[in-house]
Amino acid sequence: TTKEPTLIFMFGATGDLASRKLYPALYEIYKKGNEFAVIGLARRQHTHESYRSMVDRALPQGADRRKEFLDRFYYQPLDITEPENFARLKNISDQIDTQYQLNGNRMFYLSLAPRFFGVAARNLKKAGLTETSGWKRLIIEKPFGHNLESAEKLNHDLLEVFDEAEIYRIDHYLGKEMVQNIEALRFANPIFESVWNHRSIANVQITLSETLGVGDRASYYDQTGALLDMVQNHIMQLLTLTAMEPPSRFEPEDIRQEKVKVLKSIRPMSSDAITNQIVRAQYKQGVMPDGTRIGGYHDENNIDSDSDTETFVAARLFIDNYRWTGVPFYIRTGKRLAAKSTEIVIQFKDIPNNPYLYEFNHIGPNLLVIHIQPDEGLSLKLNVKEFGEEGETVPIAMNFSNNVKRQADTHTPDAYERLLSDCLRGDSTNFTRWDEVAFSWSLTDSIVAAWKDIPLDYYEAGTMGPASSDRLLALDGFCWWPLTRME
Ligand code: BG6
Repeated sequence: TTKEPTLIFMFGATGDLASRKLYPALYEIYKKGNEFAVIGLARRQHTHESYRSMVDRALPQGADRRKEFLDRFYYQPLDITEPENFARLKNISDQIDTQYQLNGNRMFYLSLAPRFFGVAARNLKKAGLTETSGWKRLIIEKPFGHNLESAEKLNHDLLEVFDEAEIYRIDHYLGKEMVQNIEALRFANPIFESVWNHRSIANVQITLSETLGVGDRASYYDQTGALLDMVQNHIMQLLTLTAMEPPSRFEPEDIRQEKVKVLKSIRPMSSDAITNQIVRAQYKQGVMPDGTRIGGYHDENNIDSDSDTETFVAARLFIDNYRWTGVPFYIRTGKRLAAKSTEIVIQFKDIPNNPYLYEFNHIGPNLLVIHIQPDEGLSLKLNVKEFGEEGETVPIAMNFSNNVKRQADTHTPDAYERLLSDCLRGDSTNFTRWDEVAFSWSLTDSIVAAWKDIPLDYYEAGTMGPASSDRLLALDGFCWWPLTRME
């Protein structure tokens, strides 16, 4: 049911994510009638009152039912490594549980650095907080390790306390409207599903580009890089949703099973072919499209002048299964690129012996573009005969856009709002299962192992990456389609 009362343990309660995303999301969920109370936990000292003021500042202006929402927030200073702090937490949580009749249902949100996941779980268990008469669920954020080995260790620590089915690993891309729409597009529309394979599709292009640099996350980013920050998680999710087989039912396990099968079928990287498979690059100074001059990656605060961390990755992947034989999947992501945009382009094969091609030299391919952000919608690029006598073809686009609806809004939920609400309902479909995480790590581990020998490339800030990324597609006779905004 959507309305099971819950006690939420918010670890990292004074952090940036909590204020930017989690409190506003909880507020929306509360207004929809979900019953919960929250205990904020962090090292900093706060009273319940000062914590409530902090949460208050995170809410949108003029929000209604604000006070009754804030009254459900409690605070306890806590050092994750101190078991006694957890014993005190047990007392407070039992009291709050009784006061609000929360039936022992507990959601633990660890908005913490992953090195604290294990000790937090252990201390929760030691204090008896995970023995409960209701259900218990754990939400964790990425990065889930930094390679397969560290992820396995992390998982092992969590499994001492929680079952796999109780662990909700967040990938916030899975909460985005148009990401959730990929399945509907594919499986509710026979006209697409019947051509969704190697017979009709020439290639797939997945772009996740950002204009921002590393901001104040330099120390995290410099140890992580674009491959682990974006490809291992978000891009792999977009790729599996685009490529997976239809699940028999929309049960969480059925869907996640199909996604795992895709990950297992991705051709591993080989050291010999690596330069034809992957490009890694870092930005140099440049000019953004709005005219702002940007320094290079080395000029960012707290980045060493000899750092060779990549801020851009492009790859040419193949999925070795029946549906996708021979179809390249190109992916790219980077910071300080020319646009903030996420989109998936499906390029269809040309018609054999196309008479238009002979007569007029060129007609563009059919493209289906899934706009994930900032636009939300779909466009289908077709060719029609130009009105008039000549009969040449011209490209047109059939657009479906959610942008207008968003502006008119009717509140469209944010990714975190959907995901938190899914977790409160016990629906794990849009969370990553352990084997998904493990297979993604195997892939990125194989890339890291293979690319040690390839030199880092560079691109100017404000462009769409280095020329070597275009060369990956040129190997197959293709090019990146320019990013488009919907009209
Ligand atoms: C995060 C990455 O997971 O996703 C960030 O750590 C990145 O580096 C962010 O900026 C992008 O998310 P969104 O929702 O803004 O596209």
